[in-house]
Amino acid sequence: MIKKPENAKDRIILALDVDDLCEAEKLVKELRDYVGYFKIGLPLIVNYGFEAVRLLHELGAKCYYDTKFHDIPNTVQKACIGLVKNNVDFFNVHIQGGSKMTSAVVKASRAAAKSYGFEAPTILGVTLLSSFGQKTLTTELCVDKNIEDFVIQLAKVAKETGLDGVIASAEETRRIRKEIGDDFIVLCPAIRPTWSSVNDQVRVDTPRDAILAGADFMVIGRPITTAEDRVAAAKLVIDEIEEALKEKASL
Ligand code: C5P
Repeated sequence: MIKKPENAKDRIILALDVDDLCEAEKLVKELRDYVGYFKIGLPLIVNYGFEAVRLLHELGAKCYYDTKFHDIPNTVQKACIGLVKNNVDFFNVHIQGGSKMTSAVVKASRAAAKSYGFEAPTILGVTLLSSFGQKTLTTELCVDKNIEDFVIQLAKVAKETGLDGVIASAEETRRIRKEIGDDFIVLCPAIRPTWSSVNDQVRVDTPRDAILAGADFMVIGRPITTAEDRVAAAKLVIDEIEEALKEKASL
């Protein structure tokens, strides 16, 4: 399992939302000294898969493989063994696949890492996609709980079955820290510094919100990748995280 991030830069996971490997290479070369990880999402996964992972490693960058697996336990555990075998050490599955699936994934991935002589991978659980609102949750999935309670329940399943952490919003992160504790990774997506455009995101958090709520990592894409000066934008995010860490320590 990866250690919790030690500095502001390591907390930033840059979303490589491109479907072209040359574009990805350009972004990695430009930003590898200013972010901790690069997120390879489904568009890059289906087009290039492990070639993208190898590229990142060749460039000395760390990779978060955003697989979002959701299938029966046997199928997902085999897929995760394939990830571990191919040197992917940070990925995720949907907690809604159920506790049998998440515990099978944890056991199989750790055993695979041991047999290949690798460190155990860090596996996060996706709680509820941010494209879901209360209405969809209630009417389409017939879930009567409010979103926050639903996310906390899924986070508890993640913790109990040995996942290393979850993906959640800042507000949910606060409750996760209270009800589950600090020995658990929380990653906040949809991060928007106050100086950036919201784009198509709806529920957004600033880097400061995420840190004050207790997040370890944050996923950020367009505020950095579409900035006129990408390095300057990344440095602004690092500064905001550092300030928020000081503020949190003084509370
Ligand atoms: O460009 P932007 O900062 O909006 O990119 C955010 C990234 O985080 C995208 O890759 C998106 O798929 C991902 N993500 C998200 N909200 C979630 C989970 C993942 O925006 N709840």
